[in-house]
Amino acid sequence: MSKLKNLEELFHHEIKDLYSAEKQLLQALPKMAEKAADPKLKQQFEAHLQETEVQKQRLEQVCEILGITPGRIKCKAMEGLIEEGEEMIAENAEPEVKDAGLIASAQRIEHYEISGYGTAAHFAERLGQQEAFRLLSETLKEEQAADTRLNKLAKGYINQKAQEADK
Ligand SMILES: [Fe+2]
Repeated sequence: MSKLKNLEELFHHEIKDLYSAEKQLLQALPKMAEKAADPKLKQQFEAHLQETEVQKQRLEQVCEILGITPGRIKCKAMEGLIEEGEEMIAENAEPEVKDAGLIASAQRIEHYEISGYGTAAHFAERLGQQEAFRLLSETLKEEQAADTRLNKLAKGYINQKAQEADK
């Protein structure tokens, strides 16, 4: 691996990492949607799948602006988060309990992405990459909104249903 010499190179590295993360998530979200028992949760996963497709395209735009290629970096953190999500998908659990578990996995993923996009957006701003900053901030807002929606579902009724699943 070549040496990262400055913030710009680190920024490029972060963008490639995010691109890998989004690509991996595009593979995982349909499985999460399929396994979600609650219709609103299912709908939320399906909506986020479409958002994720757009987020991947935004990163392609950012790469174009920066004159870099996404490359073959594999985001190992997302790989691990998805692996845990898949364990939950395969878990022998009451449907209501599984839904609560899927939300827990999905929120871990969202928080990871929020952190990644927050950093990348700040790097873009510092480096004077206004258009990249705008694109990354847009995705950051979407990830935050997705996290809030999951929180509302969990705290609204899904966790309660999981609590009462065996009654
Ligand atoms: Fe995303």
